[in-house]
Amino acid sequence: MAINITELSGAAGAQIFGLDLTQELSVEDKKALKRAWKDHMVLLLRGQKLSEDEQERFCRVFGEIAGLKSQNSDSKFLFVTNKEDPNVATAVQLGEMMFHYDQAYSEQPCKASTLYSIEIPDVGGNTSFANCCAAYDQLSDEWKGLLETKTALNYFNYDTNPSLRPDKIDPDAPQYSHPVIRTHQETGRKSVYVNRLMTIRINEVEKRESDRILDFLFNLIEDPRNVYEHVWHVDDLVLWDNRCTAHARQHYDPQKRRLLRRMTILDENPVA
Ligand code: SIN
Repeated sequence: MAINITELSGAAGAQIFGLDLTQELSVEDKKALKRAWKDHMVLLLRGQKLSEDEQERFCRVFGEIAGLKSQNSDSKFLFVTNKEDPNVATAVQLGEMMFHYDQAYSEQPCKASTLYSIEIPDVGGNTSFANCCAAYDQLSDEWKGLLETKTALNYFNYDTNPSLRPDKIDPDAPQYSHPVIRTHQETGRKSVYVNRLMTIRINEVEKRESDRILDFLFNLIEDPRNVYEHVWHVDDLVLWDNRCTAHARQHYDPQKRRLLRRMTILDENPVA
């Protein structure tokens, strides 16, 4: 069956039809997937009944598998859920999560993330994806000039609520500074590489100025014209480009189980 690609929104995202990921993909299908991923940043494949090995085989089309940064575990999968499971590496997170790039607090954040949905509440828990290249394109030349030479500190404390920005920095929590404007190593496109959950400070300016700039950039990234909001079905596989797409989770009822299996793909260090 020929692969068919349909846009999901004007902002980002495409749904791929005509692939069964339980089967080995042809060279042409892999090429088409990689092309679609560069063009649309977020890919959705629905109705896939995937084992861990099959999710991993899909991920390997895009690069080398990244290990977990947030856990003391050598598992390649992280289960994103609201109910702890002692048998697997879990990120237990309740409700809303603000926009972020996965692992932006580390020197080498993953270039791509996949989430495979296993259990989904009937309402809420959607994941929104923001096209941060579009956000860059919408900046005035003056803003582009101002931001070009700036770096920002990204920080994440796993012990705090992911819907809140930290008011105090724990020096031992993971943190790393990256360029505010990031150039995509494959497409050459520039994007705004800050996010509301983890970016706490632009390093080269006073705190008040940093807050003003960050506030402006967060609002720009999260402007609805830049965002595709994904409503999950069970057996969805979503892959996104973590170099230029920030994502956020909407609130859901913590009494309802939500379980997704995440695998990420290695990147080079971000460059300005
Ligand atoms: C994540 O950011 O790792 C999880 C996103 C989600 O649960 O939708």
